[in-house]
Amino acid sequence: MSMCNNKLLKAAKNPLLVLLRLKNLLRSSFMRRRKLRIDLGKERDKLLNFLSVNFNVNAFDIYSEYVSSEFKTWYIAKKSELINLFGSSGVCSDFDCAVLYLLVRSMKPDIVVETGVLYGSSSAHILEALQENGSGHLYSIDLSNDPNLPSQDFFVRDIVKEQWQLIIGDAKVELPKLLDRLNHVDLFFHDSLHSFDHMSWEYSMVLKYISSRGVLSSHDVLTLLPFERNAFRVFCKQHHLKYQVFRNIGIALCKGSM
Ligand SMILES: C[S@@+](CC[C@H](N)C(=O)[O-])C[C@H]1O[C@@H](n2cnc3c(N)ncnc32)[C@H](O)[C@@H]1O
Repeated sequence: MSMCNNKLLKAAKNPLLVLLRLKNLLRSSFMRRRKLRIDLGKERDKLLNFLSVNFNVNAFDIYSEYVSSEFKTWYIAKKSELINLFGSSGVCSDFDCAVLYLLVRSMKPDIVVETGVLYGSSSAHILEALQENGSGHLYSIDLSNDPNLPSQDFFVRDIVKEQWQLIIGDAKVELPKLLDRLNHVDLFFHDSLHSFDHMSWEYSMVLKYISSRGVLSSHDVLTLLPFERNAFRVFCKQHHLKYQVFRNIGIALCKGSM
């Protein structure tokens, strides 16, 4: 049977897979338009300098630690597994995941909250960095995954799960409850629903709980839904937060620590 026939047969058996691939294809071609001109080497150096200056660390050393880590090798193999099974994975890019690892290793937060888990790429990078720090907890909120797709802990190794609480539910409901319970947050990472209203709502909710020298970070700060502005820059400007954008992640240092 030809390769084309094989693909058609596979598609007929699993229409969900076809939809997933189509969604990822649309998303990546849309994003590509805005990211084409980004030089990743320059972007990485900009990030490492930013972290070194603002958190008084040698982020270049932390980067070396990350690229030679056992976790990084394990993660790449696991990501290939996902891509072989489901095509383009739809998870955070390698650069964006590295940003999260480096940020957590540099700022050493106690309490981290994220919205949007999918298969756990961002969660895993935060958790591995917390474990390397020797302390800290991550609280993640996401809707439930389709049972035919990988679970939310697909990328999360058992050895870091003790530092993780996964909350299944709508961020609109779960985020206010969680923030009330925790009382404060050192680092927040948004990666759930990327509409202007939802992003603005999450940032506003969290800002009230961010600790002094805390960080509000967000994925998809370059993503624009049709007819919408991106909420991250607008929010930071409105609240006089100093921020920087590294590829598709925005980092705002909340209480004037920049
Ligand atoms: C782009 S994916 C997250 C990617 C993930 N951070 C990673 O590292 O690969 C977006 C996720 O947001 C979740 N989501 C969308 N709307 C949500 C909501 N209202 N509350 C909680 N999660 C939501 C989706 O279920 C999906 O898993």
